[in-house]
Amino acid sequence: MDQGALGLRYRFAQGVVREAGQTALDRYRRRESLAVERKGRQDFVSEADKACEDFVASALLKAFPEDAFLGEEGGLQNEGGAATWIIDPIDGTSNFIAGIPIWCVSLGLVIGSQAVLGIVYNPATEELYAARMGEGAYLNGKPIRVSNTRRLDEARMGVGFSYRRPVQGHVKAVAACLEASCEYTRFGSGALGMAYAADGRLDGYYEAHINAWDVAAGLVLVSEAGGWCSDYFSDAGVFTKGNVILATTPGLVEPLRKLLAV
Ligand code: IPD
Ligand code: CA
Ligand code: CA
Repeated sequence: MDQGALGLRYRFAQGVVREAGQTALDRYRRRESLAVERKGRQDFVSEADKACEDFVASALLKAFPEDAFLGEEGGLQNEGGAATWIIDPIDGTSNFIAGIPIWCVSLGLVIGSQAVLGIVYNPATEELYAARMGEGAYLNGKPIRVSNTRRLDEARMGVGFSYRRPVQGHVKAVAACLEASCEYTRFGSGALGMAYAADGRLDGYYEAHINAWDVAAGLVLVSEAGGWCSDYFSDAGVFTKGNVILATTPGLVEPLRKLLAV
């Protein structure tokens, strides 16, 4: 895809995500009447998730009919397109339902095995992160950088968990961090965890198994903010089956890879 076509997608997608996020925010403020279904252990979906994904899918597929679209809730549409949009309409659904303002819309564009555009929008805090490969990463239009931390005993990692993986693995990862005096935090949104690694609020993000819609956008944010990410899209099946993610600032890559065996 040429740079003009990519730039067009970058600008258009930010507008669509902002609009989708505002609609989700309106639903969040009236959440007492929200219809919620349970998909699995501690895994929920609300009518707001579905409406948000439908809105973004129809806007993007109408504007770019040659692209494919993968959504957490609706699966793959237009399979075979050279570029694939990957959306998590609401990342942090448990927070959304509970009224905790730590959730976001996360949208990435992947070409081959390379994430090239990433947008993460938290409407509750009015923060829109956006990055385009080779063009830098931004929060509300201002450039962002990963932290300068070089020591584990001065670092704070986001460490995610879901019941898709055994509890013991998570306990082991948290214990390894604590043994190294590395702080950790888990707040229920992998996409925001990646965004916070990109702007240096966190020194990195780790999760033993995360889905493509949780990290497609964050991979571009962290890389463009000067950070390092594990090769998430190395395996062709990863779009639907997920992978491990480690994303961090350059000074912590080696100590964290050793500590977490990534
Ligand atoms: C989950 C969140 C959570 C992460 C899980 C995800 P959801 O997504 O990002 O922080 O640890 O792996 O599944 O269910 O809120 O969209
Ligand atoms: Ca998610
Ligand atoms: Ca979700």
